[in-house]
Amino acid sequence: MYHTIKWLGDGVSMLDQRLLPAKEVYTIYKNHKDVATAIREMVIRGAPAIGIAAAMGIALAAKTSAAKTFDSFKAELNAAADLQAATRPTAVNLFWAVERMKKIIADGASVEELTGRLEKEAEAILEEDIAINRAMGKNGARFFSDGDTVMTHCNAGALATGGYGTALGVIRAAVEEGKKIKVFACETRPYLQGARITAWELQKDGIPVTLITDNMAGHFMKSGEIKKIIVGADRVAENGDTANKIGTYSHAVLAKEHGIPFYVAAPISTLDPSTKNGAAIPIEERGIEEVAYIQGVQIAPEGIFIRNPSFDVTPAKYITAIITEKGVIENVAQNGIRHLQR
Ligand code: MRU
Repeated sequence: MYHTIKWLGDGVSMLDQRLLPAKEVYTIYKNHKDVATAIREMVIRGAPAIGIAAAMGIALAAKTSAAKTFDSFKAELNAAADLQAATRPTAVNLFWAVERMKKIIADGASVEELTGRLEKEAEAILEEDIAINRAMGKNGARFFSDGDTVMTHCNAGALATGGYGTALGVIRAAVEEGKKIKVFACETRPYLQGARITAWELQKDGIPVTLITDNMAGHFMKSGEIKKIIVGADRVAENGDTANKIGTYSHAVLAKEHGIPFYVAAPISTLDPSTKNGAAIPIEERGIEEVAYIQGVQIAPEGIFIRNPSFDVTPAKYITAIITEKGVIENVAQNGIRHLQR
């Protein structure tokens, strides 16, 4: 059985998701700077998973510190927390996890006590995330019927979380209830999380998966093959506008046109009441090489202008329901996230 991320006591083990599906390689990280680099460089990705990694990075900073005084120890830890927070801007789970660790740093009493508490908290964030995903699965499974073909975009599965997944967790829960579900996985250009990761995960679970390129989605919605869509989220604003992997917005608009329910599955830690609406969500722009190259092969002429926004925002009016571990938000455009906050 594979794992996304595991705490080893003196290090953090992560499956290098950049190498999937060709190679299943686990790397052990021994200091917080390398963990931050791993998040930035996509060794680990997916909103809940990067929050867990950041928390473990901060716990590692405590374990490896050579600070001489308690004050300098705390200062080092806060700097380590800020370094983790600076890795990726869109997924709010990262900041949520860092804040959770910073609260502990603030009221720590001694080096030993604080080191122990940070380690426990990081492990708790991982364990809670798996339980949250299972609860989310139970809350969302009722929206999926035996025989449904469900489309998803990017990877909101076990590898984007501590385990089980958000959107794929809901699909897994429906399958565990005995429903036969087929999944259409969009390849998710430019980084190919759908082709490389979602298809890999579902195949391992024996859930039938069909890979399509992103621009085929409209065709299969129109033909009636896709009955429902479910995606994860990186940040849900107060009014219900939802940031997720680039391409999600186009799927949602097309889903509305074709009368296909469009679900978002996300833990409460992804709901961000401090961000008023989608326009206020920071959108990460990644390096142009992700667009200009596929697996090391150049596919565009040298020197042209390229843009690479990694996320887009789906307005609340296109979202049928947001499925969380604490319940489901329906009428998202009217309700926003008001009644289901952290
Ligand atoms: O750039 P990534 O791979 O980190 O983007 C991931 C996504 O957009 C996921 O859909 C989102 O984080 C939800 S994961 C449960």
